[in-house]
Amino acid sequence: MASFDRIDPVILGHILGQHRDLHAQMLSLRALCEDAAAPDRQRLTEVRGRLSGLREYLRQHFEQEERGGFMEESIARMPRLSVVAREVLADHPRLLAEIDGLLERLPMRDISAEAWAAVKRDFAVFTDHLLAHERNEHAVVQEGYNEDLGLDD
Ligand SMILES: [Fe+2]
Ligand SMILES: [Fe+2]
Repeated sequence: MASFDRIDPVILGHILGQHRDLHAQMLSLRALCEDAAAPDRQRLTEVRGRLSGLREYLRQHFEQEERGGFMEESIARMPRLSVVAREVLADHPRLLAEIDGLLERLPMRDISAEAWAAVKRDFAVFTDHLLAHERNEHAVVQEGYNEDLGLDD
């Protein structure tokens, strides 16, 4: 209970809301990619714009999570979470690098059917990585915080 005042449920709720946003952005981007066998220039521009937007959103999201100290707080509450929590935080730069790699491989105009198929495949892999990351993150934060929240009830 001593550290209960360090929990900020408003910020925590904000982060969880961002996870829902991220999920929606990825699903719509995936749908946009699935749509076309090989995109024309306009579609390619749209995909690039949305992917860049997702990248920026993610960068800010990660920054907020790191600044918010939820992982550290969870570790302080339940030390056995520390290994998973450190892995979760180490995902952040890896995920940004993965999305940068995708952006680099999207040409300004024409893209071959093979290159497009590879980009779609890699985007699906990236989506899986990001969803797994958020799942692990939820698990750490929930486990770390539930105890105190339960005590407070
Ligand atoms: Fe995260
Ligand atoms: Fe997150």
